[in-house]
Amino acid sequence: QDPSSASDSVAPVIRKKITSHVGFSNLPNQVRKKSVKDGFQLTVMVVGESGLGKTTLINTLFNSTIYMPREPLHPAQDRPKTVAIENIQADIEENGVQLRLNVVDTPGFGDFVNNSDSWTPILDTIEQRFDAYLTQENRVRRQKIADSRVHACLYFIQPTGHSLKQIDIDFMRRLHLKVNLIPVISKADTMNEEEIADFKERILSDLAFHDIRIFQAPVYEDEDEEGIAESEEITRAIPFAVVGSDRAVRTADGRIVRGRAYPWGVVEVDDPTHCDFGKLRQMLVRTNLEDLRTHTNQVLYEHWRTERLLSMGVTQDPSVFQEINPAERLREERVIHLAKLAKLEASMKDVFQEKVEIQERKLKQSEVELYARHKEMKDALNKQYEQLAQKKAQLENGTPDTRKRMFRG
Ligand code: GTP
Repeated sequence: QDPSSASDSVAPVIRKKITSHVGFSNLPNQVRKKSVKDGFQLTVMVVGESGLGKTTLINTLFNSTIYMPREPLHPAQDRPKTVAIENIQADIEENGVQLRLNVVDTPGFGDFVNNSDSWTPILDTIEQRFDAYLTQENRVRRQKIADSRVHACLYFIQPTGHSLKQIDIDFMRRLHLKVNLIPVISKADTMNEEEIADFKERILSDLAFHDIRIFQAPVYEDEDEEGIAESEEITRAIPFAVVGSDRAVRTADGRIVRGRAYPWGVVEVDDPTHCDFGKLRQMLVRTNLEDLRTHTNQVLYEHWRTERLLSMGVTQDPSVFQEINPAERLREERVIHLAKLAKLEASMKDVFQEKVEIQERKLKQSEVELYARHKEMKDALNKQYEQLAQKKAQLENGTPDTRKRMFRG
């Protein structure tokens, strides 16, 4: 199996060709010409409790039905026991520029009675993707590397207005050094402006208290004033208070907009005075798409890779390692290969042990059954023996008449 598809193999990939307007082809200055020619690739993970509007927001962000909302589970239905990892792939084309979008959905997160480990499968998939990349990178003969690493994780915060919940802190603490975290307050139309401002402040102070790093857009020295002001405005809006809607509604003045209609008026998704949706989209697919990819590659992945190689006993300076050195590559490939073999051997031992235990249990069970059957037969024979002995005694002690009757009977 191709290691690059290790994490993708657990879930089907849906491909979509979409031609609606998203905005990634309006090139920001830091995007190079090469990217335009080759197209962009972005892998976005969405995490948050069920019903917080993840599907709706992704569809709103990319202005298309990337995937359908999930039907809520019927009370009688069996509930999944762990968080699932699902991949949806969409090919978006805009003004001749291609964007391959991968959405990694994590249904089940926060939906269990005990959610203390909800983050584990998500961390696993992020690390598996790093691992798949490392394996390909270390091949002496490198083909084109398939990159399934996650570039951004949209973490959905429930619009409670209080502060972060334990599950939010647990998740972000475990993941912040592995993925670009972008926290969003979902369904922001359920709170007023003041409540949102207070909530944002509390969230930021919780994040600071727990030393959780979220994605920060870099500021470039050669950027013009307008660009710097725009970046600062985006940064100030984090955590983005967003409203999602893939429906068109009519406003009081007759305009058709994407939004949510209420008796008192319409909340417009794309109006920056109503919510931060536009800023989130600006950051994700326009201004910082390349920054998210670069930070994933140069900081998050490098950090993970250094730790991983160290844990395998490879102590080479990672910056030196960047240069192609076939002997070094071979040595590393061998270390990684041996580590994989050891892992495989350990898991085979576990399987063997488990099979032996099952066989032993079966043997014990049949021994018990055999003993019970043996006892049953012995009891039946004893009973028969006693009956015959009785008959024999009657025969020996009986009169000729009784003997005749017994033989006839
Ligand atoms: P799961 O697939 O169960 O994890 O749910 P989800 O997080 O993908 O939520 P989904 O997008 O299916 O939305 C759940 C419900 O919330 C739907 O009825 C949406 O119409 C509604 N919804 C989505 N976004 C918003 C929003 O911004 N504001 C409000 N008020 N409702 C929203």
